[in-house]
Amino acid sequence: MNKVLIAEHLNKYFHEPVESQVLHDISLSLDRSQFVTVMGKSGSGKSSLMYVLATLDTDYDGNLFICGERMTGLTENQLAQFRNRHIGFIFQYHYLLPEFTALQNVMIPGLKLKHKSSAQVRDDAMALLEQMQMGKFAEYLSSKLSGGQQQRVAIARALINHPDIIMADEPTGNLDSANTAIIFDIFRKLADEGNTIIAITHDMDFVRKADAGFEIRDGSLSSYIEGAKK
Ligand SMILES: Nc1ncnc2c1ncn2[C@@H]1O[C@H](COP(=O)(O)OP(=O)(O)OP(=O)(O)O)[C@@H](O)[C@H]1O
Ligand SMILES: [Mg+2]
Repeated sequence: MNKVLIAEHLNKYFHEPVESQVLHDISLSLDRSQFVTVMGKSGSGKSSLMYVLATLDTDYDGNLFICGERMTGLTENQLAQFRNRHIGFIFQYHYLLPEFTALQNVMIPGLKLKHKSSAQVRDDAMALLEQMQMGKFAEYLSSKLSGGQQQRVAIARALINHPDIIMADEPTGNLDSANTAIIFDIFRKLADEGNTIIAITHDMDFVRKADAGFEIRDGSLSSYIEGAKK
């Protein structure tokens, strides 16, 4: 089965402070190795959609399947385990733990998964940092790194458990154009190696270079932009 993610007729409501519908009948499916973007105005529902797709928000109507498994209806505990194995997250503000080194930050989800010895997790984390050209910063406290460097550590951390899908909410939102290009190149390479990536972005270069792009307007996934690549 080549579909990594299938969302069927997602509807979501917020009840506070007023009753409002934030997602309107959203359906989408993502293939292995596909790199897509989601853009849309502030408040249009991008992050709300990402939280549902990432299984972090279970308060929705509709169906969500990831890697052929139905997410809808699973318990919080089952979802947490599934996420750790299959989903890598990157957020606009990287949420690295400032009192830990870059290397330790990357290792944490790998240690939590308990599939490998800590020595193996450490080797894998080091290899990922090297891949992100962050090897020489491995022992730096993450609070001593620049924004672009921290974002690359966050990507390495998202990859430590070899996720099937990477979900990113404005991963370059606080970066300059040079660092944005670096992150884009990393995503492109990851997708070409078989990862599926869905990234919220406002950056039109990013949108144009991805395989495909969605636009969300007032909670509806209203258009589809073919990227330059495939
Ligand atoms: N916890 C919440 N409770 C009630 N309403 C919310 C909640 N979170 C978001 N909303 C509302 O849902 C709508 C969509 O918010 P969302 O965060 O998904 O937008 P977004 O497209 O990610 O915007 P941005 O580009 O500013 O990040 C907004 O009108 C927002 O006020
Ligand atoms: Mg948002």
